[in-house]
Amino acid sequence: MKQWSHKGAEWAYDDLGSGRPIVLVHGFPLDRRLWAGIVGELATHHRVIAVDLPGFGQSTLGQGFTISSVADDLAAMAESLNLGPIVAAGLSMGGYICEALADQHPEILTGLILVNTKAEADNPQQKDGRNKMLELARTKGSRAVADEMLGKMLSPTTIRQSPQIVRDLRAMMEAVLVKTLETALIALRDRSEYATLLPKLKLPVQIIAGADDVIAPPAIAEAMHQSAAGSKLTIIPDAGHLSPLEQPKLVADAFKAFLA
Ligand code: MLT
Repeated sequence: MKQWSHKGAEWAYDDLGSGRPIVLVHGFPLDRRLWAGIVGELATHHRVIAVDLPGFGQSTLGQGFTISSVADDLAAMAESLNLGPIVAAGLSMGGYICEALADQHPEILTGLILVNTKAEADNPQQKDGRNKMLELARTKGSRAVADEMLGKMLSPTTIRQSPQIVRDLRAMMEAVLVKTLETALIALRDRSEYATLLPKLKLPVQIIAGADDVIAPPAIAEAMHQSAAGSKLTIIPDAGHLSPLEQPKLVADAFKAFLA
């Protein structure tokens, strides 16, 4: 584990392998262990940077973040680590952050991998849901948030066949401090839309969806694919919202084909 200090936060990250750099950005409320099943495979040909976003995993929260500010932080990190142009890959909330990065710092990107994510902003009903989740986090804590989210995160196949993944996921979610949950839920609720960015992107884009994802369903990924000209779409079978945890081999294959 390495550490990078920025704006009062200590970022924990892994920096493995060498070659074309790829930065991996996890979703909510997770940490860089989301990518554990694919980093080794990717690091055989690439420099892989897997970050814990502020407050998650082994990183400290510092002064808090928005989706847009954390994209700026990642650009600063890429510069400070001398990565040169990077491929940015993000899952769900990590995908929103990578979209913000493409919007705010297109010059540092050579490719974008959007995994189990969306490009639209939250609609009023979804914002309501965030406020309810905020209330739940404040009154009942991280375990209640994990209880609420867990059933929607994984495919029925994963839940049936992989009790260890369910246990690991629950542990990851329950470990997040309430202050971090609050910061991230507000960041998610108030994020900008990036749907209008997709047709303007001038870089290669890979979109990955889980066939059983109920949070960012394949139909959303298909619409993003239609919108981002020249993008590639891969649907991962027997995967829900966390395809790198659920089907690491298939996701690593899609990453490697894109990066090659
Ligand atoms: C995530 O996995 O990061 C969240 O599901 C994102 C969201 O709720 O929009």
